[in-house]
Amino acid sequence: MDLYEYQARDLFESYGVPVLAGIVADTPQEVRAAAEKLGGTVVVKAQVKAGGRGKAGGVKVAHNPADAEAAAEKIFGLDIKGHIVKRVMVAAGARIAQEFYFSVLLDRGNRSYLSLSSVEGGMEIEELAVERPEALARIEIDPIAGIDTAKATEIAKAARFPEELIEKIVPVIERLWWVYRDEDATLVEVNPLVLTESGEIIALDGKVTLDENAEFRHEGHAALAEAGDIDPLEAKAKASNLNYVKLDGEVGIIGNGAGLVMSTLDVVSYAGEKHGGVKPANFLDIGGGASAEVMAAGLDVILGDPQVKSVFVNVFGGITACDAVANGIVGALAKLGDAATKPLVVRLDGNNVVEGRQILADAAHPLVTVVDTMDEAADKAAELAAA
Ligand SMILES: Nc1ncnc2c1ncn2[C@@H]1O[C@H](COP(=O)(O)OP(=O)(O)O)[C@@H](O)[C@H]1O
Ligand SMILES: [Mg+2]
Repeated sequence: MDLYEYQARDLFESYGVPVLAGIVADTPQEVRAAAEKLGGTVVVKAQVKAGGRGKAGGVKVAHNPADAEAAAEKIFGLDIKGHIVKRVMVAAGARIAQEFYFSVLLDRGNRSYLSLSSVEGGMEIEELAVERPEALARIEIDPIAGIDTAKATEIAKAARFPEELIEKIVPVIERLWWVYRDEDATLVEVNPLVLTESGEIIALDGKVTLDENAEFRHEGHAALAEAGDIDPLEAKAKASNLNYVKLDGEVGIIGNGAGLVMSTLDVVSYAGEKHGGVKPANFLDIGGGASAEVMAAGLDVILGDPQVKSVFVNVFGGITACDAVANGIVGALAKLGDAATKPLVVRLDGNNVVEGRQILADAAHPLVTVVDTMDEAADKAAELAAA
């Protein structure tokens, strides 16, 4: 989960990372009031989960409250890489002497952490990495040892931060590491980390990605996610404790077990090529105990997706046998009633498969087609989605 800049700013502040005052605002009038409160020069900053806001016109300097309001008028509603600006942060204006770059991130390839740093901050790091790779210091971080004073000094020197600033930058790097470690982040990026004209080091922008798998041990993280613009279908699925990821296609997918669902996505994509390029509409793993309630909740989410044209239910009966799953499907359709409007292709196999298929045959629901194999079922579902 990515955080908004203002959330990252607040997190940084709570760890003692130096940041500037910032006030969140949802209307130009609120921006004016925030600018009055902060006094002096302020910067109005679009709060969207995308980089390059400055370049896109989403970061504007204002020297008085009226200018701040005028700047906000231009920023609200702006489309930044597909994200519409609905909220801004009014930040105190810094007098910048120099801009640096610092980040620490999960390096999956090396099963380790990696710190990237540079004296050339401000520009997007992807550009810097391509245009001037030698300006980017890469230091591996041992996940157990982390970043202590010695490691932070090594990073600061490798980045070629000015010698006289190293003593000031090192504690900031250490604190940013604490954010990374203690919040279970997979990315903490500060671009730019600035030196002000009065000689202070300040994190002027912050990008933080939190590991959602660790949410259970962070009480505050769920609230951070709520502030975000998560997909309404994903939010609904989450409320029912379903493992759902929205994708871009037309064939709704329900399966039990992540591995089976992943391969279902593959066979549907493959089958879809023959039917005008239809694709899976989602990932949904209903797990082991596929009760009528869970099946109904899953179908409800998938049928609520206006892009979905057909649904492929692919279940391998194990501990929860096929007859229980079949009863789950029949029960779910009864529960949904008129809300169930799209054709369902069901493939059942495994424990008690004969009984399961019999239950579906007896129910003879007009929307349900039972198909024996996974490939044939994928083909049928793709065909129905293309019709
Ligand atoms: N509070 C601030 N005071 C002065 N300048 C700022 C402030 N915040 C941002 N800037 C300037 O605007 C640039 C872009 O802002 P930033 O927050 O990094 O957004 P993005 O990375 O999305 O473009 C920064 O590199 C900095 O030069
Ligand atoms: Mg930035």
